Amino acid sequence: MASQSEGIQIRVNGSLCQLEVDSSRSLLSVLRTELRLTGTKYGCGAGECGACTVLVDGEAVRSCIFPAGHAHGRTVTTIEGLAQGGRLHPVQEAFLEAQAFQCGYCTPGMIMGAVSLLRKEPNPTELEIRRALADHLCRCGVYPRIIRAVQLAAAKMSK
Ligand code: FES
Ligand code: FES
Repeated sequence: MASQSEGIQIRVNGSLCQLEVDSSRSLLSVLRTELRLTGTKYGCGAGECGACTVLVDGEAVRSCIFPAGHAHGRTVTTIEGLAQGGRLHPVQEAFLEAQAFQCGYCTPGMIMGAVSLLRKEPNPTELEIRRALADHLCRCGVYPRIIRAVQLAAAKMSK
C-alpha cells in the first residue's frame, strides 16, 4: 500500500506542531513517538479501554483509533497540557487527593475523560460519572476512588 505521508499541522497543548507523517497513523502513535508526549498510554489499541484518551477540540477521543490526519488544523490536549502556570488542573489535584490510582496506567485517560465530562456537566451525579467513565478500564479496580476524585474535582471547580 502506498504511503500517505503528508504535512499536517496540529496545535498540541498550545504549540503549533508541523509534522510529516502518514496521515492514517494513529494520533496516539504520533503523540508518543514524534512529539515524545508519552503521558498518553497505549492499552488495547482497539478503542476499548480508554487509556489513550485525549481531547480534540475539547472532545474526548480514543487516540489509538483516531487517524493523525483527522487532527489536522485542530487542537489536541494531552495530559501534559492540563497543568497551567505550574499548577495542576483541579482534576489532577483531585486524583492525587483521592489517591485514585494504583499502578497509574489508566490514570491519564481517566483524567482526560473526567475533564471532558466536567466541561459538559460541571456537577455530575454519581450515575453520570459512572456512565461517562464506563468504558475506561482500570485493571487495578480503583473505581470507587476514581468516582470520588471526579466528585472532588467538580466541587473544586465550582468554587
Ligand atoms: S489504547 Fe486506545 S482505547 Fe485502549
Ligand atoms: S490504576 Fe492501574 S489500571 Fe487503573
